[in-house]
Amino acid sequence: MSAASLDLAGGAADASGETRSIPEPRRSGTQIKQPASTLEVAYEACLVDSYAPERADLRGLYEKAKDAQWNAKSALPWETNVDPEAENMPNQLIPIFGSSVWDRLDKKTELPRLRRHATSYLLSNFLHGEQGALMATAQIVSAAPSADAKLYAATQVMDEARHVEAYDRYLREKVEMVYPVSPYLKTLLDEILTERRWDMKYLGMQILVEGLALAAFGLLSQTANEPLVKEIVRMIMIDEARHVAFGVMTLRGAYDDMTEGELRDREDFIVESSRLMRDRFLMQEVWENLDLPVEECLEVTKTSPIMLTFQSLLFSKIVPNVKRLGLLTPRVRKGFEELRVIQYETWDASA
Ligand SMILES: [Fe+2]
Ligand SMILES: [Fe+2]
Repeated sequence: MSAASLDLAGGAADASGETRSIPEPRRSGTQIKQPASTLEVAYEACLVDSYAPERADLRGLYEKAKDAQWNAKSALPWETNVDPEAENMPNQLIPIFGSSVWDRLDKKTELPRLRRHATSYLLSNFLHGEQGALMATAQIVSAAPSADAKLYAATQVMDEARHVEAYDRYLREKVEMVYPVSPYLKTLLDEILTERRWDMKYLGMQILVEGLALAAFGLLSQTANEPLVKEIVRMIMIDEARHVAFGVMTLRGAYDDMTEGELRDREDFIVESSRLMRDRFLMQEVWENLDLPVEECLEVTKTSPIMLTFQSLLFSKIVPNVKRLGLLTPRVRKGFEELRVIQYETWDASA
């Protein structure tokens, strides 16, 4: 058993050593040192004794990944000037858009501040998710049962490091504000990183988290007005599509012969994780930090038609991929129906 250090910049400790539930966003240059959190993890590391290629599809993906490496330092236009309070992403993506709270905002002072916080909240959670992916993929290198999968997964570790680098630099240099990880995302990442069963790590990270990221990045790359963030997301998406493909390739057939009990664990995991991922977008920390009426903002966020569409779109890759793996069982179907995302089962999951 080993203790992994997971620094998600969340939960600043107060004087009593207790963790505050709603930490304040970290501003660049304030020198606040957030304590790293640690997790006890245990899983079976697998040492292979054959290195010869066995799966042509995985080797093909490995070759593709090597050719597609890029340098976040030189490939992105970092010289771009960014005003973090401008409408860099459409106002419509801010959950309270069009509500009476929105109407009451001072458009010259409060709205620009809200834009900066909302951008920071969204991209910071992308950043923390990327750290989770970096760590999960490193675990997959060691847990994967074949040389084909280990070699491919090693390329993904480098991809995720590059994604952490790009989002972190954008947040620090351009937005100048980093939010702590959403408690819902943290719960999900902790669960994936401490999971013993290899297929559940893949399922959680490669199918659920990566699938959601791919859909969220897609929405952002199509709607952002700010050229640097648009390019960061576009480049990252090219990598993420390979990551989801890796999960689908590796897990295909893995559930065909599972017992009912084993399958039930996977079904519960998919439905519960999907609920968590949906709840992550309520932005409660933003409303609190800006002294907005929290209950009213949460109510609007939960009921606004734009937000409901946005939240359900985030499942447009997950649902068809779960189906491709043979996991869209009656129980999972019921869960997806309750979350109102079942309509994506026939969508193109190509990733
Ligand atoms: Fe990533
Ligand atoms: Fe990824």
